[in-house]
Amino acid sequence: MSFEPEIIGFCCQYCAFAAADLAGAMRLQYPPNVKIVLIPCTGRIDIIHLLRAFEDGADGVFVAGCLEGNCHFLEGNIWAKKRVIYTKGILDEIGVGGDRLEMYNMSAAMGQRFAEVATEMTERIRALGPNPARKHKKIEAAEVAVEA
Ligand code: FES
Repeated sequence: MSFEPEIIGFCCQYCAFAAADLAGAMRLQYPPNVKIVLIPCTGRIDIIHLLRAFEDGADGVFVAGCLEGNCHFLEGNIWAKKRVIYTKGILDEIGVGGDRLEMYNMSAAMGQRFAEVATEMTERIRALGPNPARKHKKIEAAEVAVEA
């Protein structure tokens, strides 16, 4: 049986979450491997949330925020990008692999882009194989919820 990765997508409510909704409304096809966690802004994401998602069993994680310059909280997505880059380094050092984590930017109107991101991440993680730090359990999006 082929490996089916579990991917957590931390999606900003103003853009990526709306884009995912649009992708669904447009009936765009993309792999069902992504579990979306709604967050108020990617600036709310901290390094510990990202590491915790991997510790809890995610094979891949992405953060999707507003286009640069369009964050509703001014620079939340810029801070998120810095935290993602920093966390990639930690993941490389501990042997999980920084390629399992990515940051994307999109607008609420980019339903097609959301479908591409879900497909791209699924293919990437499928090629990388299971998270070596994975505990043997299925994860639920609620387990990695971020408090508002
Ligand atoms: Fe969307 Fe900040 S409000 S990334």
